[in-house]
Amino acid sequence: MIEVVGLKKVFDNKFEALKAVDFTIEKGDLVCLLGPSGCGKSTILNLIAGLLHPTGGDIRFNGSSVVKTEPKDRNIGFVFQNYALYPHMTVLENVMFPLTVGEKKIKKAEAKQIAETYMRLTNIEELSQKKPGTLSGGQQQRVAITRALVQNPEVLLLDEPLSNLDARLRLKIREEIRRLVKEVGITTIFVTHDQEEALSISDKIILMNEGVIQQNDDPQNLYLEPNNQFVAKFIGNPIINMLPVTIKEGQMTHPVFTIPLDRFTDIRFKKLVPDGQYTLGIRPEDVLTTTQDALFTTQIKSVELIGRERILNFDLADKHVKSIVTIEEIIEEGAEVAFDFQYKKAFIFDDKGERVY
Ligand SMILES: Nc1ncnc2c1ncn2[C@@H]1O[C@H](COP(=O)(O)OP(=O)(O)O)[C@@H](O)[C@H]1O
Ligand SMILES: [Mg+2]
Repeated sequence: MIEVVGLKKVFDNKFEALKAVDFTIEKGDLVCLLGPSGCGKSTILNLIAGLLHPTGGDIRFNGSSVVKTEPKDRNIGFVFQNYALYPHMTVLENVMFPLTVGEKKIKKAEAKQIAETYMRLTNIEELSQKKPGTLSGGQQQRVAITRALVQNPEVLLLDEPLSNLDARLRLKIREEIRRLVKEVGITTIFVTHDQEEALSISDKIILMNEGVIQQNDDPQNLYLEPNNQFVAKFIGNPIINMLPVTIKEGQMTHPVFTIPLDRFTDIRFKKLVPDGQYTLGIRPEDVLTTTQDALFTTQIKSVELIGRERILNFDLADKHVKSIVTIEEIIEEGAEVAFDFQYKKAFIFDDKGERVY
């Protein structure tokens, strides 16, 4: 188990990269640290690995603080975006390397045996005698992960390990990583800025922005129950529609529609909503075409066919809105289409971006 308590990092230039971050990771879980570039993901990994020293707070492995423990004694496997393999060594030598140096080094023959066991697990046995320079990006990353695992670390840290791979390979290797870490049973922190990648492989996702955790939750909850506007916008593709609305005397008004508030089931209101300015968040799949009781009718500006889905683009007041319909619904550019919302799936955010419904 990894506990991060009130973890802070202020760099020498006074930049506050982490503002009192708290989270717990259960043994054997695969957790994604997700967030936009610069939000502090790598800083957290480097603090856990001991490559950076925290300004405040604590990091505990199985209940014991490790902040005063040397990096080499923390028992961590670290994999970076740029494989960082030794170019002059063969794959086997690269994988064996961590076992043959330092205080805990073991005999060459024994190291070879352990390395080969892990190489079988990651399907790189046949690359054993090759040099890294002759391998594809995906193969190099498999070697880097194998090298991180041979020491049987307590924690595996992966910092954007798939960023240098092409899209198809990324899908394949992320599935392999999930299978592998579950097979080995190792506690894993996987850093990515790709929400789809995080949703597809994680037991839990910690979504960050500007050094602050926005939500630490099961993948589906980030989509279905976002804490705030940032989370709602970061998760989901195409991005959620956000419409400025006014709530007054039991009605939600927008320049092109008015919705009685009782259409939103009361029970989901997180707190009493006073009259004022809000943002209605509605995902593209919850903007539905309708043949009766339309909320509004509008002209479709453009249509994109993506896989089995058709994306309808139109403008509402000055906001661009997307609706996703199935491929069977044949709607052309310029068509006048009537829409309604799926109210029970909508979100309402206050002026601070916090979700109230
Ligand atoms: N050594 C440093 N000195 C000053 N600022 C830094 C240093 N390292 C990182 N930062 C800043 O801290 C923020 C978080 O960086 P990082 O953890 O690398 O972000 P991420 O991995 O989420 O992209 C960024 O704004 C980055 O510019
Ligand atoms: Mg980073």
